[in-house]
Amino acid sequence: MNNQSRGFMIALEGVDGSGKSGLARQLAETLRGDGHSVLATHEPGGTEAGTALRKLVLASNAYDWTPTAELLLMNASRRQHIDKVILPALAAGQIVICDRFVGSTIAYQGAGRGLADRTILDLHRLAIEDFWPDLTLVLDIDPETALNRSKARLESAKIDEGRFEALDLAFHRRVRQSFLDQAATLPAAYRVIDANRPPEIVAREAADHVRRLLVGEGAR
Ligand code: TMP
Repeated sequence: MNNQSRGFMIALEGVDGSGKSGLARQLAETLRGDGHSVLATHEPGGTEAGTALRKLVLASNAYDWTPTAELLLMNASRRQHIDKVILPALAAGQIVICDRFVGSTIAYQGAGRGLADRTILDLHRLAIEDFWPDLTLVLDIDPETALNRSKARLESAKIDEGRFEALDLAFHRRVRQSFLDQAATLPAAYRVIDANRPPEIVAREAADHVRRLLVGEGAR
């Protein structure tokens, strides 16, 4: 399944606490200011069913999912999201900004949990019909700083989604490395942004890059 619509899909990726959610808001505002119609969404979630799955997977007292079961749940949430939200938005010519997508599955269930890339990509082909974002922005940051930030945010906002944050630093280092490896393998579709800098600098770099690509895509 290719994105043959007039729309454009941007996935935001990075370790927990890398600043994706803030960037999603900022980027959506900037692109709307440029006159685009923008849909901001996230995974796991983005639909009612996906939100229910998100709770099942991310709550600190979630079931003890095996890595493969976790992979299937992420794909179930994604398929629902694609069919109900993402494809209709792209067909209507919108820019879709998605906080996490298949890059997170490769990083968390692959590098983090230890499933083979082959398994993840085969399932992606089968369940998601090999649909990829037009652009994946990776917010690259020191995992220790980011993890502490994420834990503090969940605690202060009393959000019970800390199942991955509870895993050790080595897990999060593997996740970070996977995002860098993905970007090195697919340089045309990924862009790594140094997120150790102030959020407004990160947002400006992201917006500049997206604007350049949208000019190139003008004919679509
Ligand atoms: P978030 O807090 O950035 O919304 O992400 C939720 C968590 O879900 C995060 O710890 C990463 C995890 N996740 C996966 O493990 N696999 C996936 O495919 C996705 C989309 C998220």
